Amino acid sequence: MLTITDNDFHRLVNFVKSNYGIDLSKKKQLIMGRLSNTILSMGFESFKDYVDYLLKSKKPEDMELMLNKLTTNYTYFMREEAHFKFFTETILPYLESTKKNKVLSIWSAGCSSGEEPYTISMLLKEFFGSKAGAWDTRVLATDISQNALTAAQNAVYDESSLREVPPAWKNKYFVKTSQPGVYGVAPIIKNNVIFRTFNLMNPIQFRLKFDVIFCRNVMIYFDQATKEALVNRFYQATNPGGYLLIGHSESLNKETTPYRYLQPATYRKE
Ligand SMILES: C[S@@+](CC[C@H](N)C(=O)[O-])C[C@H]1O[C@@H](n2cnc3c(N)ncnc32)[C@H](O)[C@@H]1O
Repeated sequence: MLTITDNDFHRLVNFVKSNYGIDLSKKKQLIMGRLSNTILSMGFESFKDYVDYLLKSKKPEDMELMLNKLTTNYTYFMREEAHFKFFTETILPYLESTKKNKVLSIWSAGCSSGEEPYTISMLLKEFFGSKAGAWDTRVLATDISQNALTAAQNAVYDESSLREVPPAWKNKYFVKTSQPGVYGVAPIIKNNVIFRTFNLMNPIQFRLKFDVIFCRNVMIYFDQATKEALVNRFYQATNPGGYLLIGHSESLNKETTPYRYLQPATYRKE
């Protein structure tokens, strides 16, 4: 494994922080462990040569490779189920009775390999049932990692990722593949999700404001100032009465967030 000097470590940490919001200041070992082989296979002999190159490079694929190595894409279907219960029992009935144009706008921000937006798509299908055709329930799903988005669009998952999925849903919303223990997401669920590459450090300029933003287990990588700035941007992009759902291991500062706290990891714009 290559070692990184304090100077190169700080240059890399500052670069990743200012461009992507991700705080790696306590991740020296992780950086050395995850990037050494990549650096050698790119033909560099040291972290110094690699960091010199990266800071000057304008190639998106160089950034991609580095982010894919350093960020964690761990996720699974029905993760943090309490949110999905609240979504079905409280949020969707509210939206059904208030959205007169029958257009919902739901965003999975930091969707990783797609399990979260596909879970939302299944819940929407369950909730609207035969009325689904009258509604536009498409889910926007974004991530910075191209690898994760490619996996999301392939929509093929190992059984372990489906461990929390009710058996009836497994039959309805998944198709078996030729490989044992590997499932594909059924087209009716897959086609209701739109995937886009998006860096959460950028201004939020989507066409519609959102009724619900899921941004779960993403801001754990961000420091407080970056997180607060992002939450303020989310707030501007949320419809009045809309919701922000974050990971259960995360919290927002109740004094400074413009959202109202409802229950753990669940916030609302009044
Ligand atoms: C642990 S996954 C969370 C997946 C899902 N939301 C969940 O809770 O299971 C975190 C995701 O955040 C993405 N991410 C990290 N920084 C990002 C940024 N600046 N912009 C967009 N996505 C980012 C990572 O690529 C990764 O896929």
